[in-house]
Amino acid sequence: MTYTKRYPDTPSGIKDAAEMLVTGGTVAFPTETVFGLGADAQKADAVAKIFAAKGRPSFNPLIVHVRNGDHASEFVDINAMARVLIDSFWPGPLTLVLPLRPDSGIAHNVTAGLKTLAVRAPKTQLAQDLLAEFGGPIAAPSANPSGKISATSTDHVINGLDGKIDGIVMGGDCTEGLESTILGVTSELVLLRPGTISAQDIQSATGKPVVQRDQREAINAPGQLASHYAPNASVRLNSTSAQAGEFMIGFGAIDGDINLSPQGDLKEAAENLFAMLHIANQSGKRIAIAPVPIDGIGTAIHDRLSRAAADRT
Ligand code: TXA
Ligand code: MG
Repeated sequence: MTYTKRYPDTPSGIKDAAEMLVTGGTVAFPTETVFGLGADAQKADAVAKIFAAKGRPSFNPLIVHVRNGDHASEFVDINAMARVLIDSFWPGPLTLVLPLRPDSGIAHNVTAGLKTLAVRAPKTQLAQDLLAEFGGPIAAPSANPSGKISATSTDHVINGLDGKIDGIVMGGDCTEGLESTILGVTSELVLLRPGTISAQDIQSATGKPVVQRDQREAINAPGQLASHYAPNASVRLNSTSAQAGEFMIGFGAIDGDINLSPQGDLKEAAENLFAMLHIANQSGKRIAIAPVPIDGIGTAIHDRLSRAAADRT
């Protein structure tokens, strides 16, 4: 057990959290998507603590958080297409997978041996302040035990990782609610994980079609295992009413014990998704979830739900 320090969301709290990163510690912090569990991306020992705390398999690479495109260019090659994407969407919930520079200094365990690196510039002031104070690149997966529901509040982080990480910045509002969209940028644009920035948004900004991952056997997002976000109990999708003993998560007119968005607003549903999965999980019951349209942000919500419901064996 480690004592997990609570850092207030104040300039001195952020300074102390950055100092913990400098000394090779792990610190959870909020971003606009979910909480990340950060460590110095250029120190293999520090990065190893992330894998240990989460119980994350070492073959699953991490996203590196940077201040902006200039900062990213120290670690990855930024071609013209990547530049357009950065100008259109950063800071924000879009992760780009780009060629790793040989002189990046990024620790080998961040990329799990790949020749590419996933980078993103988070948009919340708190995350930007922490990056500025620390100065270097911060490797940060979502701040949850591996394979479990992502964290969108300090309570979620503490319930999952207290005593296993060195610190947590106590603040934040994860207004997007779902992890970033991940896009592989090669001669093609390949959607590796859907998020609140949709394939359509990317197509509109770049004028280039976005290839869906499952159409491309060769390209693989190593961490996109079928079962993920797994609550303790089973999950039944597309249910129109709860069966005996089920905790029901509603959407729109199909109501439940709680409702992702009574108005049927997909953005609101995305923001609420993980918090409501945590609540459903705590009920100790089996979980039923109302249908959510697979359209726009709904594509990303559906991706998370289908993996929460996936067979775990
Ligand atoms: O919004 C987010 O992206 C959050 C916040 C904290 O920034 N982070 C996050 O990290 O969701 P994580 O580790 O839970 O998910 C990262 C995903 C994994 O599925 C991993 O396999 C994939 O990114 N990934 C990382 N590096 C990659 C690479 N070089 N190529 C392909 N996929 C990669
Ligand atoms: Mg995750």
